[in-house]
Amino acid sequence: MQASSFPSQSNESNGLTRDISRVLFTQEEIQQRIGELGRQISSDYAGLNPLFVGVLKGVVFFMSDLMRAITIPARMDFIAISRYAPQGQPHGQAKGPVRLIKDLEETVDRQHVIFVEDVIDTGLTLNYLLRILKTRSPASLEVCAMFDKKEHRLVDTPVRYRGFDLPSRFVVGYGLDYREGYRHLPFVGELRPELLNLA
Ligand code: IMP
Ligand code: MG
Repeated sequence: MQASSFPSQSNESNGLTRDISRVLFTQEEIQQRIGELGRQISSDYAGLNPLFVGVLKGVVFFMSDLMRAITIPARMDFIAISRYAPQGQPHGQAKGPVRLIKDLEETVDRQHVIFVEDVIDTGLTLNYLLRILKTRSPASLEVCAMFDKKEHRLVDTPVRYRGFDLPSRFVVGYGLDYREGYRHLPFVGELRPELLNLA
């Protein structure tokens, strides 16, 4: 393929960015906040060799940035779940039952576990996963969430580390998807309304 086949568009002018009506958190704001979280966690967990646990796929961006802001020995692992989307709901807003489709490879027993989430909405997903982890006897279990939609909470969920509070709107970017798209935007924003709920 010839080099001229590749369009040379900047991030600002490409199609993805045009789909966003409003940016809520810029790349710089997100990275700065993660630096603060990393310093706090590194200080709180010094000498404890914590295990960071994330849920695929949304958390991969936050997990990789957060881990690189951690200055103490630490490990990470992932689980994957599947949600059954109620008919007609966009995937990202699916509130059906949760099923574990990939388990951890690391042992949780007697480990200091930090459960890392991209966004907590109703808290139902997190609650279900914390209950599973608690049965495996961790030495401690805390939650670190990049974004928190507190107003949507249906079950009480203790969040020890929080990046930002989010308004109760549907957003994309920095791991958050709409029908599996937009995860790789380095910022978080709202989609233009006419793009949501396409049949
Ligand atoms: P919860 O069980 O309601 O807390 O659901 C949390 C999950 O819903 C997240 O892991 C996301 O996959 C999804 N989610 C919640 N809010 C948003 C959003 O604004 N954009 C994209 N996905 C979202
Ligand atoms: Mg999703």
